[in-house]
Formats: sequence, C-alpha cells, structure tokens
Amino acid sequence: MTKRILVVEDEGITRKDIVERLANLGYEVAAAVGSAEEALQKAEKTKPDLALMDIILKGEMDGISCAGEMRSRFDLPVVYLTALADEQTLERAKLTGPFGYLLKPFDDRDLQPAIEIALYKHGMERRLRETQQQLFQSEKMASVGNLASGIAHEIRNPLGIILAGVECIGQMNVDEPFFRAAIGKIKESVLRANKIIVDLLKFSRSSSNEFLPVDLRQVAAEALALLEPRAKTAGVRVEKQFAFEDCIVSADMSLMRQVFFNLIANALDACKAGCVVTVVIRRNGQADGNTVSAEIADTGEGMGPDILKKIFDPFFTTKEPGKGTGLGLSITHMIVERHGGSIEARSEQGKGSSFTIALPFLTGAATPEKAGV
Ligand SMILES: Nc1ncnc2c1ncn2[C@@H]1O[C@H](COP(=O)(O)OP(=O)(O)OP(=O)(O)O)[C@@H](O)[C@H]1O
Ligand SMILES: [Mg+2]
Repeated sequence: MTKRILVVEDEGITRKDIVERLANLGYEVAAAVGSAEEALQKAEKTKPDLALMDIILKGEMDGISCAGEMRSRFDLPVVYLTALADEQTLERAKLTGPFGYLLKPFDDRDLQPAIEIALYKHGMERRLRETQQQLFQSEKMASVGNLASGIAHEIRNPLGIILAGVECIGQMNVDEPFFRAAIGKIKESVLRANKIIVDLLKFSRSSSNEFLPVDLRQVAAEALALLEPRAKTAGVRVEKQFAFEDCIVSADMSLMRQVFFNLIANALDACKAGCVVTVVIRRNGQADGNTVSAEIADTGEGMGPDILKKIFDPFFTTKEPGKGTGLGLSITHMIVERHGGSIEARSEQGKGSSFTIALPFLTGAATPEKAGV
C-alpha cells in the first residue's frame, strides 16, 4: 500500500521540492502545510502514515511541540527536518521520541531510507505495545481466575443450602401471594448468584477441557439457533456468511459455543430494530497463518475508545444492574486464548462493532461428522 506522508515545512520552495521528491519516490503526499496548527488539522483529517516536520515553524507552536501532539493524539511517527540546531533544541526534540532526523539540505538517498526506517520502527513499536497489552490482559485474567476459583467453592455451598431451604419452605401449604412471590424472588436471586459463580469458575485454569475436532460453522449455527428468536423479537436481521470448505479447529464444543453465544448476545444487545448482525466464518490460507476466523459484526450503537479499551476486563459492563455482569467478554477472551487463538475488537461509536476471533485450523483432522462429534 502506498504510504501517505504529511509535509510540514514553512519555507514554500523547500516544501514544494520535498513534495516533488516524495512523489518521485512513490509516496503519496497526504498534505503539505506551513504551520503546526494546520499540520494538526490535516493529521486528524487525512490520517497520514508519517510526518516530515521542520523544527522551526512560524506561528505559536514550533515543530517540536507539534510532533509531541501528533504522537500523543494520533500515534503518528515524525521525522524531523532540521538545519543545524542548537543543543537545547535537539534535547527538546529527543523528548518527543522522533523516528529520525534529516539534516538539511538532504537528497533522495537520505530521504527514502529515513522514511522507511521510521515506518518500520513505528510498526514494530506498535506491535510490541499490542503484545504487552495482551500479556497484561492474560496476567489479569490469570489472577482473577485464581481468586475466583478460590472463593467460588466457598460461596456455592451456602448457596446450595439456601436453595434447598427455600425449596422446602416453598412446599409449605401457605396460600399467601406475598409469600409465594418472596419464595420466587429468593430462588431467582440464588440461581443468578450461582450462575455468576459458575461463570467465574470457568476462569479457573484447572477446569478440564475436552478438545475435539469441531467445525466452527456448526458451533456458530447452534449459537445462532438459540439467539435467533431474540433477534426476531428485537427486529434485528441476522446474516450468515459461512465458508464452503471445512472450518475445523481443535476445541471444547461447549466452551466454543459460549464464545459465539456471548459475542452474538452482545451484538444483539447493542442493536435497535432495523440493525443487522452478520456472522462470517472463513478459512484463511497459509499466508494468514492457516487459521479459521469468525467475525461477529453489528450495526448497533458501537463504542467509543474509552469503553473499547475496558471491554475485556472482568466485571466491566455498561448495562443496567441485573442485565449484565460484565463477564461475557472476559470469559470469551480466556476461552479463545486457551484454544491458542486470538480475539480482536473494533468499534465506532454510533456505527457498530465487530469482533474477530482466529483459531488454528486443524489440518488432517477427520470432519466432525466422521469423528462422530
Ligand atoms: N457488540 C457490542 N456493541 C457495543 N458494546 C459492546 C458490544 N459488545 C460488548 N460491548 C460492551 O462491552 C461491555 C462488556 O461486555 P461483556 O459481554 O463482557 O459484559 P456484558 O454483556 O455487559 O454482561 P454479561 O456478563 O451478561 O455478558 C458491555 O457492557 C458493552 O458496554
Ligand atoms: Mg455480554
């Protein structure tokens, strides 16, 4: 893909010259501007891949402050263009974590490597950040898992006793509507508390899983069959796009069913009448890691970045009390990870969301039908 460069240089002739050189080198110029203020506007609007930034600019803000803003607001890598600068300026420039410096005057043999190295370094830095985040998330899951399994058993016993006691009381011959309603409420609450405990126990690393060849199309179809009535009532259209070829992975069927159930249920919760939920199951070839992927997308309310970064945290929910426990996605994340897969979420406020899971394709496996699954 052609890389798009933002040029920030206040000297008109130099700016024109850089633009021409970039075009000759096969880059696309996203915009060429002379001030930091314009540069920030253009960066937001045109979303370039990199900025070439003169340090000394006319106006309130110089190139160094502008580069700092670009990194923090748009995660945009910056290569400085400088004539010989004094020590103090260079020190300030260093603090903005630039991806390169080009000393003016420079020629194409300097320009192209500087851009390519900066783009490469920035890509690596982003991947490193993502890996660190995943690691952090896994550690958080593991500690919640340990804590949960520790207390879950302790809570389940008294819950069992309450439930048995309420059942006994319920058999008493009392014909008082208030009494019946109270018994019903207690039972409902105990069962709800128990469900939370059962969900939490799924965090426990010790729970045994049964991995068998499973076709993701079958799992998705089963979860959809359970949720389609809900979609119909809500006036939400559900679309299936399933691959024609086998989409077999090694999985625990009931856990995997839960993954689809959680993701589709969330999608439906985010949708109003008239929205669409799409479930796509694909086989990705060798170039894409020989995986099977499932995408659950909706045209519902979507999420802003502040919500998006918390959705995999245990107990994070934006739903009213009683409607969501905030465990669905954290459990989904943990299940997918336990299957050696990955999960990614994308969303835009007001437009919708999409969740993509990818799992290793099980080569040479008997189809689930043949394997009797
Ligand atoms: N498809 C989606 N569209 C918009 N927001 C979503 C979507 N999926 C998840 N979310 C947000 O992520 C939060 C966490 O989701 P999660 O499934 O973990 O918990 P929950 O749905 O609130 O409760 P439950 O434990 O019942 O699943 C939701 O409360 C919601 O704010
Ligand atoms: Mg949920």
